Amino acid sequence: MSQRLRKVVFPVAGLGTRFLPATKVVAKEMLPVLDKPLIQYAVDEAVDAGADTLIFVTNRYKHAIADYFDKAYELEAKLAQSGKNDLLALVQNTVPKHVRCVFVTQAEALGLGHAVLCAKPVIGDEPFGVVLPDDLIWNGSGAGALRQMSALLHANVVGAVAVEEVPRDQTNKYGIVDTGGDGGRAARMKHVVEKPKPEVAPSNLAIVGRYVLPPRIFELLETTKPGAGGEIQLTDAIQALLGERNVLAYRFDGTRYDCGSKLGLVKATLAMALEDPALAGPTREFMASHS
Ligand code: UTP
Repeated sequence: MSQRLRKVVFPVAGLGTRFLPATKVVAKEMLPVLDKPLIQYAVDEAVDAGADTLIFVTNRYKHAIADYFDKAYELEAKLAQSGKNDLLALVQNTVPKHVRCVFVTQAEALGLGHAVLCAKPVIGDEPFGVVLPDDLIWNGSGAGALRQMSALLHANVVGAVAVEEVPRDQTNKYGIVDTGGDGGRAARMKHVVEKPKPEVAPSNLAIVGRYVLPPRIFELLETTKPGAGGEIQLTDAIQALLGERNVLAYRFDGTRYDCGSKLGLVKATLAMALEDPALAGPTREFMASHS
């Protein structure tokens, strides 16, 4: 029987150095793809998976994310006065009414694993999702990646990670999964290693920013020592979990855009423009004139 994912964690305390100088003041997750910031796509995916509690792990500089999901009194009053009800609805509905947002601070950027551990007091004793907003996964009007993954949980499967194949020379940017050659859509993970060099990588199957995890991961994170890059790696705690329980590597339906990189953000913007009836034509013309 599949379980609903009530709680989803958004680790957004990274420094976003690949987008400096913009990220000196603009959180990476607030960078827009067309008119929506990356964090909005991530939240929409979590709500699509059934979440009613969204936990943002931020740092002390990232006020913009909390402000974005908060009420904007002056703006809302002005839009209401001028009868701009469509815009008012957009501003008011960044999260549905039944969903609550919780903000937790990661005092120091000690790594993704550490950021997830910061959410422990809010999660309690239930399975939860993790969404990295800079990996935008778009599946059109179909089920979002996180909803697809939550459907995989049952008595014998405690977790899942989203995976896709990457070029061999890029294995050192990802957590790389060994499924023992099982090429199925949802394959049992045998082993996972963070950022291996191409010559020692067990495969080219890379974890992208979606996880469904059991609460047991917190105990494992508490004893995880700093790994690749001196950071506390979520991948290392997942490797420890594999010794106890079944976790699946899942090839999701949808397209991933790595919006933590400039090229990925450009591709996502173009793809969304091509899906927008008002923008598709002019975007195609522009691209044709530059090819
Ligand atoms: P990245 O490796 O993309 O790092 O983090 P970054 O700081 O966001 O960006 P660059 O590489 O400097 O440009 C992957 C995810 O983990 C979160 C980030 O916010 C991002 O969502 N993270 C990373 C934390 O929340 N805390 C950390 O200590 C590290």
